[in-house]
Amino acid sequence: MHPLDEFQMAKIKSVRDIKTAGKRVLMRVDFNVPLDDSGHITDNTRITAALPTINYLLEQGAKVVLVSHLGRPKGVKNPKFSLKPAAAALAEKVGRPVTFIEDCIGPAVENAVKSMTAGSIILLENLRFHSGEQANDPGFSQALSRLGEIYVNDAFGTAHREHASTSGVTKYLPDRAAGLLLEKELEFFGGKLAKPQRPFVVILGGAKVSDKIGVIEALLEKADSILIGGAMAYTFMLARGAGVGDSLSEPDKITVAATALDKAAERGLRFLLPEDHLIVDQLDPGAGTVGEMKSVEGSIPDGWIGVDIGAVTIELYRTEIAGAKTIFWNGPMGIFEIPSCGKGTFQIAEAVAANSGAVSVIGGGDSVTALNRSGMADKVTFISTGGGAGLELLEGQVLPGVTSLETH
Ligand code: 3PG
Repeated sequence: MHPLDEFQMAKIKSVRDIKTAGKRVLMRVDFNVPLDDSGHITDNTRITAALPTINYLLEQGAKVVLVSHLGRPKGVKNPKFSLKPAAAALAEKVGRPVTFIEDCIGPAVENAVKSMTAGSIILLENLRFHSGEQANDPGFSQALSRLGEIYVNDAFGTAHREHASTSGVTKYLPDRAAGLLLEKELEFFGGKLAKPQRPFVVILGGAKVSDKIGVIEALLEKADSILIGGAMAYTFMLARGAGVGDSLSEPDKITVAATALDKAAERGLRFLLPEDHLIVDQLDPGAGTVGEMKSVEGSIPDGWIGVDIGAVTIELYRTEIAGAKTIFWNGPMGIFEIPSCGKGTFQIAEAVAANSGAVSVIGGGDSVTALNRSGMADKVTFISTGGGAGLELLEGQVLPGVTSLETH
C-alpha cells in the first residue's frame, strides 16, 4: 500500500475540519532556514510556505503557538541556532507582532501561552535545545502538549523525523490535524509524482550517493530519465571505471552505484552522468576560493577536483529536461555557493523553469536556494519545503509526522 493512499489520508483531518476559534493551537512548523554568519536568514521559503496555515488560523481567531527546530544543536542551547530571527521575519510577513519566547517548555512558557488572546502568535525557541526532542522523549512530548489544546503539523520538511514535536506529542493531544502546507506537499508527492505523466525526468545532485541511493533505487522503477550531478556523480564515474582525480567521492559506495547502473541498463532507462566537468587544482569551500580552473571531458586528471558539470553536460541535460512532462529536481550540480562553480546548477534551474508544459517539483534546500537566486521560482509548478522528507516519500516510506496525525 502506498503511504499516501486515499485510505490513509482519510484518517487524517485537515486544519479546515476542526474548530480552532479561541483555542490554543500548537503548530509544528519547519523554520529550519539557512542563516549567514551574522545570523541573517538567507532564504525564507519555509517561513513563507507556512503562512497559509498561520493566516487561516488567525482568521479563525485561534491563538497560534509555533514550534520548530533550527539546525542540529544536539540538545544544547546555542545562540547560533536561535529562532529569534525567524520571529522577526514572520512578524513582517503576517503584519502583526510575533512574541518570541526564549524556551519551548516549562512554567514560564505555559504561563505565556495561557495569557494569549485570540489572533495572537507566539514563536518558541528551538526545540532541539532540549535532547528530549530528537529522543522523542515522553516527558518532553507531554511538556509540549500542555502548550496547546489542538495540534497542527505543517512541518513537511521534518515529517520524516520521529521526534517529540512531530510524533510523540500527538499521543497527548487527541485533537490533531494536518496544516495546509503538509496537505499540499502530500498532494504533489502522493499524486503528481507517484503517478507521473511521461516522460518523467529526475535530476539528482548533491554530495553523496549514500544519501540518495534509496530514492534512486525506487526511481529506477518509475522514471524515464535520471540525470546525475554534484559530487555523487564522481562515485558513479568510479563505478564506470572513469578517473575522478581528487574529487569528493565515496569509494565504499562504488558497488552500490554499479548495481544501480546495471539495473538502469536492464530497464532501458536513461541514466545520464556528466560527460564533461569544470575542474580546479585547489579548493577551499570554507573561504569560497578556488585555484586554476578548466574544463575537461571524460575522466578527471589526478590532482584536479570536479566542482561543477561542464557545458556539454548542461546542454545534454537541458535537452532532456525540455522534453519532460514531469520533472523532479533535488540537489545542486556543483559547489554553487562559489559563484564561479554555480553555472551548472543555475542553468538547470533555468531549464526546469523554462519547461512550462511540465509539472515541475523542486525539493531540497540547496536546489530551492539556487532556484530563488535564479529569479525563476514563480515559473515552476511546486517548490517543496522538504529535502529528505520528499525523498523518503518517493522511496515509498511512511513518514512518522504524517502517520502520527491519524485519528481512528
Ligand atoms: C531539513 O532541513 O531537511 C529538515 O528541517 C530536517 O532537518 P534535519 O535533517 O536536521 O532533521
